[in-house]
Amino acid sequence: MTRRSVLLGTGSALPRRAVGNAELAKMVDTSDEWIVERTGIRNRHICGDDENTGTLAIAAARAAVAAAGIESESIGLIVLATATPNQTFPATATLVQDALGCNGGIAFDVAAVCSGFLYAVSVADSMLRTGMAQRALVIGAETFSRILDWNDRTTCVLFGDGAGAIVLEAQDVAEDGPGILANRLHADGAHNELLYVDGGPGTTATVGHLRMKGREVFRHAVVNLAEVLGEVLDDVGLSSKDIDWVVPHQANQRILDATAKKLGLPPERVVVTVDRHANTSAASVPLALDVAMRDGRIKRGDLVVLEAMGGGFTWGASLIRI
Ligand code: UT7
Repeated sequence: MTRRSVLLGTGSALPRRAVGNAELAKMVDTSDEWIVERTGIRNRHICGDDENTGTLAIAAARAAVAAAGIESESIGLIVLATATPNQTFPATATLVQDALGCNGGIAFDVAAVCSGFLYAVSVADSMLRTGMAQRALVIGAETFSRILDWNDRTTCVLFGDGAGAIVLEAQDVAEDGPGILANRLHADGAHNELLYVDGGPGTTATVGHLRMKGREVFRHAVVNLAEVLGEVLDDVGLSSKDIDWVVPHQANQRILDATAKKLGLPPERVVVTVDRHANTSAASVPLALDVAMRDGRIKRGDLVVLEAMGGGFTWGASLIRI
């Protein structure tokens, strides 16, 4: 028997308002053709005044707890990945904790931008396996619409809002049983200036806007993602042929295609939601995972790899037997 963090359930939430490419073409000099051809994005969801990172995170968390079939009071740990918290502090995780009525346990946010969910999964997995909690909620929740420069066509067409959540439980399982098998995380601060926000509480005392040199980020993403996927597979002595599903960060259809090709993975094993959600940063992996769990593609026993890359740069991958 071995101690593992086992996935009990998933959930997600999207803002009510869907925004198609044609609507953006009325605001900036862009077109549906350009956006679809360069990114694969057709639609994204954008928060209204009464929606925010906290409301989305709470809705996703409730859905994950319901899917897990547990009482929310039994959650002892909440790790929430976001670059767009409701407030500078307290951590948005504590808002979720209070809404779900699991007060008294551990709750904090992690900031690793688009790979935040991978960082959060890895931290929660370590804490569960060392006995700091029995059950954890791991959430990725974002409202990038609030840090976009809506006059900058090179960024505003790429992102959307949303949240995804998973419930993990520490269990003693057989060697070939379910649970998280491997996590790998990386960061390289030398690339700060390629993807960043031009403000913050400790510098400008403002929220700032997202800035990105897209072409360079793209190049690094394909190389780093293929490498980190290889690392988690090597950790457990498996190869890409053993993977049932890849649930990648949803930044660009061309990045998904190029990474799958580099690893020799058929495109039909890659879960794609970038067309309908756009890039939801830390929310994109758990959102895509929830979609594929609920539509029945991902089943118990499947070997699933999660991966993401984002600002920092940060990147990482997790390998899970469902
Ligand atoms: O989530 C974190 C990780 N982020 C990513 O992984 C994003 C990675 N990067 C990308 O996905 C792509 O680089 C982009 C989608 C951002 C851009 O695609 P690209 O094929 O790299 O285009 P480009 O930046 O090289 O721009 C090509 C042209 C430029 O015009 P010129 O200089 O060739 O005349 C841009 O000004 O496309 C122009 N352009 C646009 N045209 C219409 C840039 N944005 C737009 C737009 N509509 N929205």
